[in-house]
Amino acid sequence: MEVEDIRPEGWACTYLISNEGKAVLIDPVWDYIAHYRKILSERSLELAACMATHTHADHITACFSLSKQNNIPFYMWKDTASLGVTDYVDESTKLTIAGVEYAFHHVPGHTQDSVIIEIDGHIFTGDFLFNGDAGVGRDDLPSGRLTEHWTSIQSLSALPDDVLVCSGHEPPGTELQSLGWNRMHNPILAMSSYDEFEQWQKKTAEKLGSVSKIKTALPANLFAEVPEEIPWLSQ
Ligand SMILES: [Fe+2]
Repeated sequence: MEVEDIRPEGWACTYLISNEGKAVLIDPVWDYIAHYRKILSERSLELAACMATHTHADHITACFSLSKQNNIPFYMWKDTASLGVTDYVDESTKLTIAGVEYAFHHVPGHTQDSVIIEIDGHIFTGDFLFNGDAGVGRDDLPSGRLTEHWTSIQSLSALPDDVLVCSGHEPPGTELQSLGWNRMHNPILAMSSYDEFEQWQKKTAEKLGSVSKIKTALPANLFAEVPEEIPWLSQ
């Protein structure tokens, strides 16, 4: 089995998990469908499924388009408000796709539908948890809740040190680190009080400001419809 971040540019990570000639994409971005198809074809991989760690606000997901085009499942957490999902997952879901086992852990906070996707040696954390100083994703966007995020962070204690944290956003070229490393180097995992977390999140949200693509990306993801005009592609 191989796991690779195949984003062609930008800060939003897309993971390709390949095994036995088949592939799963986690958090693919609509803008890069041609890029993913090229990689799949070059490596003679058949796309078997798509998954989203949460309803994204910063890009249009490729999941509903790839699901329709390839007639493959699109998996998301069972209570997601997003349409276009073909198969819902919960804590009891165990999937085996091309010999790789997938489990799901609900970690609401950044959004209500955030999950950790777990496979052997890797956790795909979306914007629930980043590597190192980047901390975690913001909680001030639609369906975000600080208190729930804090509670979800405590549930990480059930996961071992040696899993690799494959997050939803990292600066290009970032070397991914283990959960054990993050327990020592991610400021959020060293915090002992909710107040500390709240302060960190407030400062971070102020620094980040508004999300430029949200008014196009969020409705597209909720309704599973690609808009006729995508401002960042028509410039
Ligand atoms: Fe996000």
